[in-house]
Amino acid sequence: MASTKSATVNSRAVGVDIGGTGIKAGIVDLEAGELLSDRIKVPTPPGAEPKDVLTAVMTVLEKLGVADDDDVPLGVAFPAIVKNGRTLSAANVSQSWIGFEAEKFFEDGLGRSIHFANDADVAGIAEVRYGAAKGVDGLVILTTLGTGIGSAMIYDGVLIPNSELGHLQRAEHKRDAEGYAAYSAMEREELSWEKWAKRLQWYYDYVEFLFSPDLFVVGGGVSKHADEFLGFLSLKTPIVPAVHRNNAGIIGAASLAVSVPEAVSAVTA
Ligand code: BGC
Repeated sequence: MASTKSATVNSRAVGVDIGGTGIKAGIVDLEAGELLSDRIKVPTPPGAEPKDVLTAVMTVLEKLGVADDDDVPLGVAFPAIVKNGRTLSAANVSQSWIGFEAEKFFEDGLGRSIHFANDADVAGIAEVRYGAAKGVDGLVILTTLGTGIGSAMIYDGVLIPNSELGHLQRAEHKRDAEGYAAYSAMEREELSWEKWAKRLQWYYDYVEFLFSPDLFVVGGGVSKHADEFLGFLSLKTPIVPAVHRNNAGIIGAASLAVSVPEAVSAVTA
């Protein structure tokens, strides 16, 4: 839903970040871009069917004590292409999300309006507003390395939504980049940091060649271990960890709930 409340009226909002393995939520101070509450986390229900995900989102809102408080804006981030409130893909969740009126489903189920967007895009928004990409001119590409690879492309502070760079492919790997280079691939194949970094080198080289960015920001839970793998990478583009690490999705979702950047409002309206 596109109605926008002013940041001067709302100094806090709730962000919910739905991921392939966990659903995280928190209350966010929108001036500082920091969590005001504990971070609540529940596992993503097996199969990630819409009704089960809705129940899990209700649980995190209850745990935060905001389930009945619709004065606090609510932003929800989801790991799929999100256009006009619909989810159009489903890489690490149930196929039922493809072509699904997800925003309406959550609004009906929660009995309140929400703002709904792609998880990596909102993490990018958090880093532009409050983190590693703040004030950076030109093209910033944030990638989240988790169950999949998410991407946010931000040019001069404006988000170009739904870039989906985790699904770049190269014939020799016979799978999407995320199947080869996400953090889940490292865990699944029990790779050392150095071996995983070789895969990241391929990935970032490829993205760098395609887009010539000015800055890469690395988000997702593994960004807290950035010291273990960023040093192995050799790129023309500076590459830094997300300041908000694994909270960028929560902070960005909350921030989006209050003030919608033009590029995002155009697709979520
Ligand atoms: C999805 C993206 C999402 C990323 C990170 C990918 O598989 O296609 O939409 O941003 O995972 O969750």
